[in-house]
Amino acid sequence: MLILGIETSCDETSAAVVEETGDTSKPWAVRSNIVASQVAIHREWGGVVPELASRQHIRDICGVVERSLDEAKAAWADLGAVAVTQGPGLVGSLLVGVSFAKSAAAAAGLPLVAVHHLAGHIESLVLQNGELPLPAIVLVVSGGHTSLYLVEKPGHYALLSRTRDDAAGEAYDKVAKLLGLGYPGGPVIDRLARTGNDRAVPLPTTRLTHADRNAPELKGDLDFSFSGLKTAVLRYVQSKSEVGSQKSADLRLQTSNFDVADICASFQRVVVTGLLDRLFDAARRYQAKSVGIAGGVSANSRLRAELADRGARREMPTFLPSLALSTDNAAMIAAAGLRKFRAGARASMDLNADAALAL
Ligand code: KG4
Ligand code: ZN
Repeated sequence: MLILGIETSCDETSAAVVEETGDTSKPWAVRSNIVASQVAIHREWGGVVPELASRQHIRDICGVVERSLDEAKAAWADLGAVAVTQGPGLVGSLLVGVSFAKSAAAAAGLPLVAVHHLAGHIESLVLQNGELPLPAIVLVVSGGHTSLYLVEKPGHYALLSRTRDDAAGEAYDKVAKLLGLGYPGGPVIDRLARTGNDRAVPLPTTRLTHADRNAPELKGDLDFSFSGLKTAVLRYVQSKSEVGSQKSADLRLQTSNFDVADICASFQRVVVTGLLDRLFDAARRYQAKSVGIAGGVSANSRLRAELADRGARREMPTFLPSLALSTDNAAMIAAAGLRKFRAGARASMDLNADAALAL
């Protein structure tokens, strides 16, 4: 069976065709995965502008879906279902995908499956690597989320912890902005960090020991926090700039007061260590047989390398999506949709987008 996936939760319009392989250990194969990124549009504003995003989704959705079918050499009649991201995300953006998917499913007489965006990120690991040894701990880390999930059975995701404030990707984007590096911040900080000294700038690590009163069902000590780190980078840059301007009006002297690559490397070390400490902490507590990282930040080179390293030291299998499957894409939505479809899930024609959908 073939399934069409549609993803429009943020700033990429994506459509994909995924095939069920019949192989239980590697259940799905990507036939096509088309992504129209809006980064160039939002870069000018330093971040995603929701109204511009939804308008661009409307412009792109038809062409992106047509290309995904062409590339998969599939016609509407070859499909068995349509899967779409219902939430969470920007409501105007989500509505474009949900409306399109409902119309397409109705017109082609196909069943419709609603998918949670983070279930898509988690299933990107299975799409790439085949079924994970369970129980698994999966860290979903993107521009909007930093959450740990326990997967005990395929398709069941139990939330263990999440960020109390900024997502890790959001911290990358904010730090890049204050360093004047542009949007999105992750890839450029990742690149600059390679030439910097990761111990040059003293930055705080955060450890939460108490439960969050906004989420009493979570223990809290596996929670993340990144806003203090972002503020520490800001304070560091401000302090160095003031010293520089007092001592000399010479611009070269001022910029030599701090090295952007050192800041990037130090920031990245603290983020990556914080993410991996909690991931492996959770793995130990829940006696996991594997760990994985999904979402846009899983593209980070240091995170990928250190995950493999720590996993090897603990003899713990580790899983990552390919770079194409790490940032937002519809193939992961199609995969999660197939999982739900096989479990009997069907969405009705009154399906609505839900910006704050829970998993
Ligand atoms: O999953 P995604 O495409 O969209 C959301 O659902 O948020 O993730 C985008 C986020 C951005 O914050 C971006 O800065 C970050 O992923 N990102 C990275 C890297 N590539 C993208 N962060 C760190 N290192 C990277 N190489
Ligand atoms: Zn995402």
